[in-house]
Amino acid sequence: MCGIIGAVSHRNVVPVLLDSLGILEYRGYDSSGIAVINSEGVMDRERKVGKVNQLAHSLSNGSTISGTTGIGHTRWATHGEVSEANAHPLAFKEKIAVVCNGIIENHEELRAQHLREGCEYNSGTDTEVIVHEIHRFQESGLSLLEAVKGTVEKLTGSFAFAVLSITNPEKIIVAKNGSSLLIGFGENETFIASDTLALAKIAKRMISLEDGDIAEISDQSETVIFDRSGSIVQRPAESIPINAKNIELGTYAHYMQKEIFEQAAAVSSTLKDRVTSDSVVENEVLTGKATEILDRVEAVRILACGTSFYAGLIAKFWFEALGIPCETEIASEFRYRKPVIANNTLLIAISQSGETADTLAALEYASELGCRYTLAICNSPASKITRMVDLVLHTHAGPEISVASTKAFSTQLVSLLLLMILLARRKGLTAQEESEVVHEIRALPSRIDAALQMDRKIHSLAKQFVDKEHTLMLGRGTHYPIALEGALKLKEISYIHADAYPAGELKHGPLALIDANVPTVAVAPNNHLLTKLKNNIQEVKTRGGKLFVFSDAGDSIKSDELIEVIHVIQSGPYTSPIIHVIPLQLLAYHVAVMRGEDVDNPRNLAKSVTVE
Ligand code: F6R
Repeated sequence: MCGIIGAVSHRNVVPVLLDSLGILEYRGYDSSGIAVINSEGVMDRERKVGKVNQLAHSLSNGSTISGTTGIGHTRWATHGEVSEANAHPLAFKEKIAVVCNGIIENHEELRAQHLREGCEYNSGTDTEVIVHEIHRFQESGLSLLEAVKGTVEKLTGSFAFAVLSITNPEKIIVAKNGSSLLIGFGENETFIASDTLALAKIAKRMISLEDGDIAEISDQSETVIFDRSGSIVQRPAESIPINAKNIELGTYAHYMQKEIFEQAAAVSSTLKDRVTSDSVVENEVLTGKATEILDRVEAVRILACGTSFYAGLIAKFWFEALGIPCETEIASEFRYRKPVIANNTLLIAISQSGETADTLAALEYASELGCRYTLAICNSPASKITRMVDLVLHTHAGPEISVASTKAFSTQLVSLLLLMILLARRKGLTAQEESEVVHEIRALPSRIDAALQMDRKIHSLAKQFVDKEHTLMLGRGTHYPIALEGALKLKEISYIHADAYPAGELKHGPLALIDANVPTVAVAPNNHLLTKLKNNIQEVKTRGGKLFVFSDAGDSIKSDELIEVIHVIQSGPYTSPIIHVIPLQLLAYHVAVMRGEDVDNPRNLAKSVTVE
């Protein structure tokens, strides 16, 4: 989860490190720090609790440091509380500094051994064992590179780290095992970063390191990569797959707002070249062995976490309605069971980041269980998941920076619809039926834009939620996951407790919660379940609960003293969930802003959950 950046250059790298840490902040924002080697060969280090601007502020207020080689880190605390002492870079007497992402699983054992032998520890982090190991190897006469190699051999866990040492002032040594690490090449300068976003503004090409790699980063031509066996290897360099312009906030107040409003464009990019006027173009959706695999698929198993999981829950309805058996599961639960996976099941992992530890582990586990066909729906082109699966369906939402996922969700749903058509064709979907779904999908971007026109209305509605502590969200069928997603958004950015229920379940318990202080939100599209949902709405009203009903324009639900109906633009059956999630995203956004919360960086959370 933490963000790592490093630079070897001919210019002062402090501004670059700070700027990149700002970009990486979405990975963790408990504390941050940088270390550089200055022109006298001395290490300068600065760390601060809080967001990166605290660090930048402190550096612009006197403690000016500069150097042409440096590393930086923004932290999401795992081991050791949030404090300056636990902020990275961790150092040994300003001789060796380390920034790390991941978890060193055997840190307790190594620390105990170091303490017995007289080492002094200055933090409660697992990372500090790396610093002491490297120092001990260097003390025994090894070069920095050899010391890092020796250290890696002693570590267990999933991690990526970068080392700066006064013994090699113009180099950074990095090691990767599990967590992502990239090398970026700019104009006569080299960078390392934990993800592509941090490289977009500064590098032109990049290399993704493989697990077991250790690299000596120096001036461009001299960067050397060693694989797990210690042999020098060439890893392919590729262009940076992100346009730097896409990570600018522009005129928006927050990235979440920008990303909500980008949804029509994100869906259009995801559809580009993949649909004709009435059909899906299979080889534009999926490449490689797609046809061979899809021909054999008899069932689908979806694994994902959080918002991506909710996209998978909706897709289950779609696949099943077309005769394709489908199970959708939370990745972190799947991996600790003994699931039975039928032959010829396509395992679909959905992940915006492509780095979510639980989803990756579940995918690995599914392969161990004999699952032969795997597909990832992913928004991060160079992420780990894309290298683990047989087929990749890229959502082209562009970088999603706000911790709360929005545009990734809508593009995941669109991608799942495309996939549904490809599979359903093989189960007898006629050209006429395909054309109807495609027409509905093609109309989606303009419908999303129309739904976004509700912004002012939702802004004023948000005032009725600002002082509430609890909210109930109801939905049925494909719109129950939308209620779940609306509740998740409200919880994570506004810190209002929100629970979502399939509306039919109300009378089995949650109805007891209803009173005048618990507003209920009902997602009520005009579909075959509307009559049932209306009964559930009455159940709440009869108990004095205030209801906010998001219904399709033209349906018969009427506002009264306890029911406020908010009309949502009508959409077809497949795309309706994508339209209905928009007012709920906007609601959570406006409530959080009104409550003065840090919308893009909610407390305790981070994007890219790279730890279990
Ligand atoms: C919620 C949110 C998270 C993610 C979850 C999975 O707004 O962003 O629930 O959806 O952590 O992340 P990915 O999709 O990157 O695997």
